[in-house]
Amino acid sequence: MKKKLVVANWKMNLDLAHALNLVEQLDQRISSSPKVEVVLCPSYIALAPLSQQLKKPKFKLGAQDLFYVDEGLYTGEVSGPMLRDLVEYVIIGHSERRRNFHEDNRVIARKMSAALRNDLVPVLCIGETSDERAAGETLRVLHDQLTAALIMLTPHDIGRIVVTYEPPDAISSGDGHGDTAEPEQIQQALRFITKTITQLYGKPTAGAVRLIYGGSVNAETLKNYLKIEGLEGFLVGGASLNYEEFSRIVKTLQGTAKKSS
Ligand code: PGA
Repeated sequence: MKKKLVVANWKMNLDLAHALNLVEQLDQRISSSPKVEVVLCPSYIALAPLSQQLKKPKFKLGAQDLFYVDEGLYTGEVSGPMLRDLVEYVIIGHSERRRNFHEDNRVIARKMSAALRNDLVPVLCIGETSDERAAGETLRVLHDQLTAALIMLTPHDIGRIVVTYEPPDAISSGDGHGDTAEPEQIQQALRFITKTITQLYGKPTAGAVRLIYGGSVNAETLKNYLKIEGLEGFLVGGASLNYEEFSRIVKTLQGTAKKSS
């Protein structure tokens, strides 16, 4: 059985002192489990100091983004070779980057390729907007975002990735409480993602991809999602900044992983 995965997306929050404190608090509350991977994604500037402080394998580090070229004249960007000694994971294609920084599917495809050639596991985010859903466009949008992101990858590469279904309207305004997606909506999206990867790259590849959900996940909403077939974890934004809340999320998952083993 694959490990469950919880990815904490701290977004543009916490200076270094607060980031270090959050990790210390989490460390006191969470114990290591071989069945649940916990990945913390702080800002770039906190990565190096946190990589010294973090207890592995209890916690792993991820970046919130990377640039698609490995080095050169790109003022302000951070590349895969700069990240690869610090992190194991990188979030790619988050809807906030698609919307605020105009990242399109071509840019995301190049970032997926950059992550994998630098031995980082990409956590790809896809999801339809509420308008697209209302217009009956969900499956088309998911298909377009997914296939475009995978276009530069080999089946072997694809087997290493994580796909997050995260409809933008389910994302909280920063406190982890918002309009969550319905379990049926998530189930339908995950089935479609698996079917699409199976059709294009075969069953073994589709079976290796880990599927998670993001959008207003907190210790309460999590309970609605535990029975979703094929769901292997969560991308947690607002609730990951609260150590009590995030520890409860991790412990709940550790409990369910234990029961199902
Ligand atoms: P949220 O954010 O948990 O605060 O909704 C999730 C995300 O944007 O990754």
